[in-house]
Amino acid sequence: MLDSYLLEARERCLKNRLDPNVLPSFVSIAQEDLGKIQMDYKKILDITRLFMNKFLENCQGIPLLVGITDDKANIIEYLGDPSIEDTVVNQLGLSKGVCFAEEQAGINSIAAAINLAMPVQIIGEGHFHDFLKETACYSAPLFHQNKVIGTISLMTFIHVANPLIMASLVTVVDSIQREMDLLEKNRYLDELNHMMLEQSTTGYIVIDSNGTIVKINPKAESFLGVLQCQTCTSIKEISQLSQVYTSYIEGKSVQDFKIVFQNETDTLTCLVDFFPFQEGTIIQLHDITEYIKTEAYIQNAEKLTIVGQLAAGVAHEIKNPLTTLKGFIQLRAGESGTFPEIMLNEINRIDQITNEFLVLSRPTIQEKDWHNLCDLISEIGVLLSSFAITKNVEIIYDFQETMPIYCDGNQLKQVFINLVKNSVEAMGQNGKLIISVKSMEDDQLLIRFKDDGIGFSNQIRKRLGQPFLTTKKSGNGLGLMVCKRIVETIHNGEIQIGNAKNGGAVVDIILPREAL
Ligand SMILES: Nc1ncnc2c1ncn2[C@@H]1O[C@H](COP(=O)(O)OP(=O)(O)OP(=O)(O)O)[C@@H](O)[C@H]1O
Ligand SMILES: [Mg+2]
Repeated sequence: MLDSYLLEARERCLKNRLDPNVLPSFVSIAQEDLGKIQMDYKKILDITRLFMNKFLENCQGIPLLVGITDDKANIIEYLGDPSIEDTVVNQLGLSKGVCFAEEQAGINSIAAAINLAMPVQIIGEGHFHDFLKETACYSAPLFHQNKVIGTISLMTFIHVANPLIMASLVTVVDSIQREMDLLEKNRYLDELNHMMLEQSTTGYIVIDSNGTIVKINPKAESFLGVLQCQTCTSIKEISQLSQVYTSYIEGKSVQDFKIVFQNETDTLTCLVDFFPFQEGTIIQLHDITEYIKTEAYIQNAEKLTIVGQLAAGVAHEIKNPLTTLKGFIQLRAGESGTFPEIMLNEINRIDQITNEFLVLSRPTIQEKDWHNLCDLISEIGVLLSSFAITKNVEIIYDFQETMPIYCDGNQLKQVFINLVKNSVEAMGQNGKLIISVKSMEDDQLLIRFKDDGIGFSNQIRKRLGQPFLTTKKSGNGLGLMVCKRIVETIHNGEIQIGNAKNGGAVVDIILPREAL
């Protein structure tokens, strides 16, 4: 392959009208471009200098010049013996930036090694230019991802030429190549590790064998708090982990150890594992906060279901004596002034509440039908005012005449109850809640709940619909999530929350006349 290449190269040189009797007229790249290439090749240059300087040290007394080029045959670095520098280098006008492309430099080992992607030696007569016939040149290509990215070359006088020089060069370049590949692999693993640690939803703390903190990933930082992470240098200083660390160094295994972290806003629960490795320990913090909340909620929901069932039974039982009482009072209504009338009104109220209660405690199977929204709200009016009365809140109904919509009446009642409950909870004494219903374009209806309470915080507005989002001590943080699910998923509607200019909350529910 090399022979035929050299033959063709000779013809190309003649065709390009290169004159073998004169010195090659090298072209140099601009200083600025050379600087850029040197920056790009910085790692390669650092490793090569290290290896080649050692190599030159071991070859003291032999006139050797080392040249490092990029993939375009531009010399970006050279090192070497002063004797060869004085003669060949200075006479040829070699300097960093000089290009050894065949078009100007004639046949040379650098261009050949790049073109053939293999080690090449050109000795004496093999060169095109007479001047170079005094020299022996050896070049080996450097690869990155199977592509030639440059060469490392040796130049010496022809009388020193020896096949061992080529063998040595190939061995050194092979070592350089391995070192580069290793660095590349390390860089890749480093980046991968870094990315995984940064993005992980599990917290990781890496400590050395003395307990000194080497690395804390962002998730672990969110458990420990930024301040603690900035000030603590040892795991022993981290209050929540110091005790478990002590038992770990006493030889106990730490796996699935439950720890509760309390930061400014949240209480977080984690399962902690300690994994030893040669240089230290990896501490893994697995967040189970949501799981614990869900578990508590399920337990609570089970309790509520049973209570609901009991209450439905009780309500049913209350209705029977109520009917009897009502009958007798009606019988005696004419007899003694206004008392029976007041009693009747109160009994009617109890009756209405138990009716509404019974409707709501039915199992939630979807039952869609045509309903007038104003009627639906009126049907739970007594229940709503029983919430409102606790804070003397006035509920103002502002209903426009609207067409019926196809919906699940019970589920929407649940939405309205949740929203009124929230409004009452957000208001002080004597607040005002306006519930309005009106038609919108495109056969849609708007139901607006506008109160004059504290309004939604930004945190709640940004995360509407997420479970367990609450600012209340005894809240579950599920009311709005349930509303969103009923409105959006079951009725293909929309729920929007915001604050009015005066600061109170505004919740808009937009429902289509008939969800698809
Ligand atoms: N009308 C309102 N005004 C101000 N803040 C409100 C209003 N309605 C809801 N919020 C805020 O949104 C949060 C979430 O409400 P959501 O109904 O989902 O849960 P909760 O009321 O806290 O608990 P529960 O599950 O018992 O209803 C509340 O904790 C409160 O901070
Ligand atoms: Mg609520």
